[in-house]
Amino acid sequence: MIALCILSAKAQNNIVVNPDKVVSKVSPEMWGVFFEDINMGADGGIYAELIKNRSFEFYKPLMGWKTTGEQLKEGDLLVLNRKEKDSNNPRYLHVNSRAVKKGDLSMTNEGFKGIGVKKGLTYDFSVYYRQSAAGVKLHAELVDSTGKVLGSTVLNPERADNQWALQSVTFTASETVQKAKFTLWFEGAGEIDLDIISLFPGDTWKKRRGGLRGDMVQMLADMKPGFIRFPGGCIVEGYDLSTRYQWKKTIGPVANRKLIVNRWNTEFAHRPAPDYYQTFGLGFFEYFQLAEDIGAEPLPILNCGMACQFNSAELVPLDELEPYIQDALDLVEFANGDVKTPWGKVRAEMGHPAPFNLKMMGVGNENWGPQYLERLALFTKAMKDRYPEIKLINSSGTDPEGERFDLLNTSLRKMKADIIDEHYYRAPEWFLKNATRYDSYDRKGSRVFAGEYAAQSVGTTKPTNKNNWQCAIAEAAFMTGLERNAEVVQMASYAPLFAQAEGWQWTPDMIWVDNLQVYGTPNYYVQQLYSLNKGTDVVSILADQKVIAGQDGIYASAVIDSRTKELIVKVINTSAQPLTRNVAVEGGKKLAAKGKLIVMQNANLNAVNSFSNAVNLSPKEQAVKIKGNSISLTMQPYSFNIVRVPIQ
Ligand code: AHR
Repeated sequence: MIALCILSAKAQNNIVVNPDKVVSKVSPEMWGVFFEDINMGADGGIYAELIKNRSFEFYKPLMGWKTTGEQLKEGDLLVLNRKEKDSNNPRYLHVNSRAVKKGDLSMTNEGFKGIGVKKGLTYDFSVYYRQSAAGVKLHAELVDSTGKVLGSTVLNPERADNQWALQSVTFTASETVQKAKFTLWFEGAGEIDLDIISLFPGDTWKKRRGGLRGDMVQMLADMKPGFIRFPGGCIVEGYDLSTRYQWKKTIGPVANRKLIVNRWNTEFAHRPAPDYYQTFGLGFFEYFQLAEDIGAEPLPILNCGMACQFNSAELVPLDELEPYIQDALDLVEFANGDVKTPWGKVRAEMGHPAPFNLKMMGVGNENWGPQYLERLALFTKAMKDRYPEIKLINSSGTDPEGERFDLLNTSLRKMKADIIDEHYYRAPEWFLKNATRYDSYDRKGSRVFAGEYAAQSVGTTKPTNKNNWQCAIAEAAFMTGLERNAEVVQMASYAPLFAQAEGWQWTPDMIWVDNLQVYGTPNYYVQQLYSLNKGTDVVSILADQKVIAGQDGIYASAVIDSRTKELIVKVINTSAQPLTRNVAVEGGKKLAAKGKLIVMQNANLNAVNSFSNAVNLSPKEQAVKIKGNSISLTMQPYSFNIVRVPIQ
């Protein structure tokens, strides 16, 4: 009796991994990111433009601008509208100057929550102008809150034939300032029209002019994401159909991309964002290029003829769905088509003759109900007829359970959907309980994309939610269930991705930014650890012959990497106790004598990262010695542990 008790206690302390028992392949697309222009993710965020309302197209034409000057008289600065000639970019500014010195006539832009200026960095100032006679010089300056000049240049508009022209000039900043402003002051007598007054930092990603913020893209690149889902999110749907995302309006010359109001502008009364617009400077070409740059598969989501069902819930009648379906078909041609095809030609003209190799597409974001199924059926038929190789991602609605989910999940599986997108914004406890969610899913039918998920410390859409360790460790525990079920769950992405510290609408978010800095939350590092340690094949890991999903607060999964010939074991201790487990490796493979242990840990579940303590919760790596074919793993309370050992 006594001997038996000892034996069973011992058995419970054993984790048994068998690298020879391959359960399934890990999808190469596993662990991706989901980009949406929410929380100033694009304009004011990753799209590096520093001037807000650069083309005067906001509802209030001079929003973000302040006009001043001793010489400023009624009629000197006028907003003109040429919408009959240019409906995409109708407004421009007409300047009538008599200025002789600084202070006579100027306009200042506040940027997006200020302008981050870095000492020694170059800034590209550009402007479209039109004049019939030269005479007005444009002085561009970056200034701090006291008016001190941090960098300046003068642009002498050269053309004087009453034709629009683009001119640019580069200057260098002398100081670092978190919240600077941009001032344009005029010198000389004359009249000039101005449009798209633009300022970009010189340190954009890959130093592309007019490109993306380098530090934000780097955070994504550092995750080595398997895919980028884009552009949303509810932004795909729009408040109503007029503000839905239309990819064709986001390509071609930036000056021709028609701005629209961002649907998060008015979504939450507690976080109003009246100055939140979409300029589409980050459009579909830049998106494909970004995915290519960082080795991620593109996963575009298209509107399926439905506006956001939380908002207007407008529907396109079924017999008028054709243009929406055509948009989806044309997007495949834009991404993959030969340069001789109409849309392939557009891609080539934008500088990318080679195809982007699009392999999948989402039809609808968080749409639900029979109205979704009807529209989806028409999309699917057209897409599969024309592009059978493109995998389609379908929505299972807003929640991972309930009537809406059940209807869609059952119907989509009957329709033999390729991949079903599930979303869960839930309490940390839900994530712990649901680590076994996919263990019982059908292995042969439709696959799953965990397209949006994040543990909510207070409640969904609550402004007091924090990216704390309690949420991140619950996600890490849950993700063992995603990894273990790689056969079913092909892709997963945390949501939302980015948030501007002052300009956010939704929290929690994976990466927080201000004008100068970026930091990853504990949730970011959890995602990154899974992605960098995703291996190639899921292998068996059990305790007492059972999957490890909560016994004593432990969650575990294991993979091998057949390319690097390593065993990678992930064990999460969600309990407040330190725990030791013997990880016994069975089968024919031998462990090397040395491996590494990567740990994220904090005894305080409320711990967070911040701008001043950006890596408070982040992985720490150490070498470990291994004797024989078992690993003694001592886990600290509330810890995420990864053991990586070469095997032969
Ligand atoms: O991620 C924020 C929002 O949550 C997404 O736009 C939407 O799909 C979901 O409701």
